[in-house]
Amino acid sequence: MNLQAHARAILEWHQLVGVDETIAGEPIDRFALAEAAPIARPQAPPSSPGRPSPAPASSTQHLPSAPQSLPPSNDESVKSAVELAAASNSLEELRAALETFDGCGLKKTATNLVFVDGNPDARVLFIGEGPGAEEDRQGVPFVGPSGQLLDKMLSSIGLRRGDVLISNTVFWRPPGNRTPTPQETATCMPFVERLIELVDPDVLVPLGGPAAKSLLGETQGIGRLRGCWFSFETPRMSHPVPATPMFHPAYLLRTPIQKRAAWNDLRLIGKKLAETSH
Ligand code: URA
Repeated sequence: MNLQAHARAILEWHQLVGVDETIAGEPIDRFALAEAAPIARPQAPPSSPGRPSPAPASSTQHLPSAPQSLPPSNDESVKSAVELAAASNSLEELRAALETFDGCGLKKTATNLVFVDGNPDARVLFIGEGPGAEEDRQGVPFVGPSGQLLDKMLSSIGLRRGDVLISNTVFWRPPGNRTPTPQETATCMPFVERLIELVDPDVLVPLGGPAAKSLLGETQGIGRLRGCWFSFETPRMSHPVPATPMFHPAYLLRTPIQKRAAWNDLRLIGKKLAETSH
C-alpha cells in the first residue's frame, strides 16, 4: 500500500469509529495526560426531574493544563442557563437565549444550534438525546436516518411532523455522536424544562435511555421504562405532564426486532391523546 492509500485507510477507519471532528489544532496524547494526572469521573446526573442541580465541583480533580480555553464552570453555566431560560416567554425568545448562551462546551465543536422542529402548539413533545451529524449540518432535529424512521413511526398513529414538536436534551451535537456528559445535560436542562413549560404538551415522550433518565430522574434502563407512564413537572408548571419513554429510533434501526414494542408504545400515546382530547 502506498503512503497516500495508507493515509486514506487510516482516515476512513477513524470516520468509521466515529472520530469525525477536529476539535483542536494539535493532536493530544490523552494516554500521557492520564498517566500524569488521573481525571476524576464525571458527577452523576441530576436526580430530581424538573430540577437539575449543578454538579458540585470536584475537590480531587487536578486537570492538566488544557490546550484550549475551557467553558465557564458548571455551576456558573447552570446558573446562567436558569436565568436565561426563565426570562424567555416564547420559543423564539428561548432560541435567541440559546444563541447567546456559551455555557455548554458542545457549542464550540458544533456547526449549528439544533433547537426544535414541528409545531410549537403540538400536543406531543418528543425529546431525543442530542443532534447527530446531519442535524448539526442543517440545524434541525431528527433529519438524519433516525428522523426518517421517527416520521414513519409517527405516521403509524396518523401523525405528521407538523403535528408534533421535536427537540433534544442537548442543543448542540456531541462530537462523534457520543452520549452527552452529565455536565452537558445539566447545563442544557433549564432550557429543556422551559421548552416543556412553554409548549405545555399533553404528552411528553423521551426518546431513548439517556433522555428518559435525565428528564424523569429514573435509573432503570429504557427496556424497563418504556410502556410506562411517569409525570414531569417543574415548579412553574400548573399541572404535571404525563410522560412515556420510548426506544430511540437509532436503536430501532439497529434492533428492528424491538419495533413491535415501539408500535405498542405509539398506540399508548395515541390512546392517551384520544382520552385527553378536548
Ligand atoms: N438523535 C437524536 O437523539 N436527536 C436528533 O436530533 C437526531 C438523532
